[in-house]
Amino acid sequence: MKQAKFLSFEGIDGCGKSTQAKMLNQHYLDQGKDVVFSREPGGSPGAEAIRGLLLTGNTDKWTAETELLLFTAARRDHLETTIEPALASGKMVICDRFADSTRVYQGATRGDLRSKVDLLHTTMIGREPDLTIIIDVEPEVALKRGLARNTGEDRFEDFGLKFQESLRVGFLKLAEEYPLRCQLVDGNRPTEEVFKDVLALAQL
Ligand code: TYD
Repeated sequence: MKQAKFLSFEGIDGCGKSTQAKMLNQHYLDQGKDVVFSREPGGSPGAEAIRGLLLTGNTDKWTAETELLLFTAARRDHLETTIEPALASGKMVICDRFADSTRVYQGATRGDLRSKVDLLHTTMIGREPDLTIIIDVEPEVALKRGLARNTGEDRFEDFGLKFQESLRVGFLKLAEEYPLRCQLVDGNRPTEEVFKDVLALAQL
């Protein structure tokens, strides 16, 4: 496999993916590589504005359908203004969450919206990362970590443990669905150990 140019990190809330994504970004920077680190929802001014709408407030603020449209709108802006230009100029892109989050969070866990998620993805986004690293963690551990951060952006953590358990199943299924692109890493271990696996997958 060639070294991935566009990498995404995925997993349930509090799984440690943001830490791993940041460590990989730092690793590339230390090597003098041209890398853009980004996140979803967000990653561009327009998408960051939509992020605020999505992540704050009550759990019943949006239906899954409306969420799907908002996440897709944010992703389209992120893609147009941040990801595509970076890749076109030869930079690498590391993204903390991308379309797989929509497949799992909106597509499979809150009503069966997967066919609508796929339709919108094909028509409005149409791009996949070269490599997606899914950090797999026990939901109970992850939920404690997630809420402990107390960022105020806890709308999804607030859905509770059962929701996180179904998300985990969703990500495991996704790894089966895309066996080449999606690689699972056991996140129930010390950060440095997890990072060794991340580095090996990123082909450095
Ligand atoms: P964030 O605070 O960035 O959480 P994390 O650090 O765990 O990534 O919030 C992102 C939340 O938005 C997270 O709960 C997952 C959710 N989400 C979706 O439901 N659909 C999506 O398409 C994306 C990108 C995120």
